[in-house]
Amino acid sequence: MKKKAPVAIRVNPDVDPKTHPYISTGLKKNKFGVDLEAALNAYKMASELDYIEIVGIGCHIGSQITEAEPFDNALKSLKALIHELKQLGITVRYLDMGGGLGITYENETPPSLSEYAQAIITELDDPKICLILEPGRVLVGNAGILVSRVLYRKSGSSKDFVIVDAGMNDLLRPTLYHAYHAIEPVQKKDSRLIVADVVGPICESGDFLAVERSIVDIAAGDLLAVMSTGAYGYVMSSNYCSRPRVAEILVKGKQFDVVRQRENYEDLIKGESIPSFIDE
Ligand SMILES: Cc1ncc(COP(=O)(O)O)c(C=O)c1O
Repeated sequence: MKKKAPVAIRVNPDVDPKTHPYISTGLKKNKFGVDLEAALNAYKMASELDYIEIVGIGCHIGSQITEAEPFDNALKSLKALIHELKQLGITVRYLDMGGGLGITYENETPPSLSEYAQAIITELDDPKICLILEPGRVLVGNAGILVSRVLYRKSGSSKDFVIVDAGMNDLLRPTLYHAYHAIEPVQKKDSRLIVADVVGPICESGDFLAVERSIVDIAAGDLLAVMSTGAYGYVMSSNYCSRPRVAEILVKGKQFDVVRQRENYEDLIKGESIPSFIDE
């Protein structure tokens, strides 16, 4: 087409984001990005191509990062590469530092937005470069809750279980990352505390929302709020075990509306068909 395509390369700066291994993306052993040496060669190659315009460089080192240092280290690596590129006559206009700023689920103390900004600004000394950030979780994580009803209580021989109607298909993070989500009764209760596993009704021992959690004594029929599910909650949900996905409700002050309908059984088989070679 004889048009110049603007390109940026996502590099892998080999920085430890000090987060869960499944959400670390900027270490050499992770599948993401191009390592620094290969990136230098890729930029050199791209600079010789007629229909490629080099415009940027980017990275995303991971998610739920609770310290400023990994961002700082990543930026230092990218700056070193930008400097090397400059010496080769290659300039980048955009620097994309990805997302990754963490939130408080339990007692984490991630940098505040201004501390995060300060860490980047202090290191970034090229006023001509356009900085791009891709925050995700920090914007919406604590804006969402998953509401679930207690189905029944079960006393096992070694522990107690609170069985609720939400499961790992609705919120995968606890079983996938052993992630902590606070769980509160929707209606405040002054009852005593119990220690129990809060589990779903799916036929998997990994179907839990909390393990050995101290929560207020609750009864079948009570509603529980699973906190901080605004990010990586619904979007990671599935129809596993033929479970229709939940409705999504947007709340603003005292107003609320259904912004995504609850799925039904028709939705579960939508798009499926019986091939003609199967006998009736
Ligand atoms: C390239 C990229 N940018 C930004 C994000 C958002 O990350 P977070 O929600 O941790 O801010 C992700 C998440 O996986 C990502 O892969």
